[in-house]
Amino acid sequence: MTYTRMTEDHIAEAQALTTSFNWPHTVEDWSFAFGLGSGLVACDGGHLIGTCLTWPFGEQVSSLGMLAVAQKAQGRGIGRALLRQTLDEHSERTILLHATHQGIELYRSENFAPIEEIRQMQGLVTLEGEEAVPADRAPVHRWHPARDDGAREQLLALDHAATGLERGVLLQALLPRTAFLRLGSGDSPEGYAGIRRFGRGHVIGPVVATTANGASALVHALLVAHAGAFVRIDVTEAFEPSGWLSAFGLHEVDRVLAMSNAPLPQAKGEARRYGLIGHAFG
Ligand SMILES: CC(C)(COP(=O)(O)OP(=O)(O)OC[C@H]1O[C@@H](n2cnc3c(N)ncnc32)[C@H](O)[C@@H]1OP(=O)(O)O)[C@@H](O)C(=O)NCCC(=O)NCCS
Repeated sequence: MTYTRMTEDHIAEAQALTTSFNWPHTVEDWSFAFGLGSGLVACDGGHLIGTCLTWPFGEQVSSLGMLAVAQKAQGRGIGRALLRQTLDEHSERTILLHATHQGIELYRSENFAPIEEIRQMQGLVTLEGEEAVPADRAPVHRWHPARDDGAREQLLALDHAATGLERGVLLQALLPRTAFLRLGSGDSPEGYAGIRRFGRGHVIGPVVATTANGASALVHALLVAHAGAFVRIDVTEAFEPSGWLSAFGLHEVDRVLAMSNAPLPQAKGEARRYGLIGHAFG
């Protein structure tokens, strides 16, 4: 068994590994995720059997994801070894992750504490649920932070206020591949949400807003624009109980637990995170 740094050459095998758990990541999704961070792999006899990636959020925090061990090799300490080596490499940083049911005990035993539950909602978007959406929806507008410097600065500032995290590098990489909406028509946006291609269809995220109603308005508008498409969204506890999402064809298929191994920086102001960028990134 060897533990080495992940390279581009491991991506095809890594994607096959996560597909074996029915994770939806395409080779392109893996390439994008790997290109923005760094990773370790476990190999046995030249075959990749485990992966773990991290993404830096500024100098203090990293997000950890894509920890996976091939089913036939599970229960032999490989997951813990990948995690411990990654934590050793990031001993100066707080680590944020989003744990599947299978991973929770491993993370708890490495001193991770729960933050909140995330609901994975997905399905083919239908427009039959129009009446289920709150009637007093705030106005939303198309937004182009990829080509408008001012919009980009506003997006980064709002994201930082809502999460307390430095997600700028990741967000800037997402801009060209994401369609955005903003909330409110004044000088400073009251929220924003994006949608991009991912896995079997599209993923909505991130979703940031100053009110739950605003977050619903953003998500509603993105769903209406993607009727008939397969869409996923990972919503935080701040998101309205997801009854109206079900009316649009998005059903809860899983839950993960956001966890960290030390307190994270806090949000400043009223904006909050209502939807993740994606399950792995947080
Ligand atoms: C979660 C995962 C990475 C653990 O890898 P692993 O190599 O099997 O884990 P290890 O053998 O190092 O075991 C670490 C701990 O995980 C827990 N664990 C391992 N197998 C388990 C099982 N079948 N059921 C419940 N807990 C289990 C135990 O707490 C174990 O600690 P212990 O052996 O001291 O009791 C692996 O199960 C996996 O890839 N699952 C599918 C993908 C996934 O859900 N990844 C987590 C993403 S957040």
